[in-house]
Amino acid sequence: MDLEALVEQLRLYTGTRRHAHSLNVMRAAAELARRHAPHLLDPARLAGLLHDNAKRLDDEQLLSIAAERQLGISAVERSQPSLLHGKVGAALLSERFGISDPEVEAAVTDHVTGRPGMGLLSRLLYVADQCAADRSFPGVELLREISRGDLEQAVLLVARNKLLSVIQRGYLVEPNTAALYNEQVMAGVQLPAGVSDFGGLEQG
Ligand SMILES: [Fe+2]
Ligand SMILES: [Fe+2]
Repeated sequence: MDLEALVEQLRLYTGTRRHAHSLNVMRAAAELARRHAPHLLDPARLAGLLHDNAKRLDDEQLLSIAAERQLGISAVERSQPSLLHGKVGAALLSERFGISDPEVEAAVTDHVTGRPGMGLLSRLLYVADQCAADRSFPGVELLREISRGDLEQAVLLVARNKLLSVIQRGYLVEPNTAALYNEQVMAGVQLPAGVSDFGGLEQG
């Protein structure tokens, strides 16, 4: 399927608002790829477009598909099954869209929580999902600005925002997000002065 056909195919699995978000993430991922990894432009578009293809499934469906396909369900995912929409979405890429690119699958899996050691395509998508034009949380403009200059700082900021956000909401901390945050800090990545404490990231 070419990209236009995939855009239409995705309508089978998304409502209007999520379809628009998917197109925005595709554009944001393409913009980040052009700046930071031009060789990943095509997979960045694909991953951006399709990252939330499983988001409409309810908790029960996510848990049953993850169990059926032996995707592994952590204790945190068990208590908050919406976290599974990344790995379930990745598992559905081939039957829904005929896509079986392991890097695109990994990026779709990783976009929800991030993961230490995740690859460049995953990093692009992780940031693009939060920079997309439909995002409006406090600090999104600063994130967009940082993402244009330094992808690693943007990865750190997204992980930090997600941790602050789940703690503020009283949710569990997902270990991969904490480990990614630690990895960035231990690698010496620092946020620019003036990044204030804002939480309240939109989820998705
Ligand atoms: Fe998502
Ligand atoms: Fe998303």
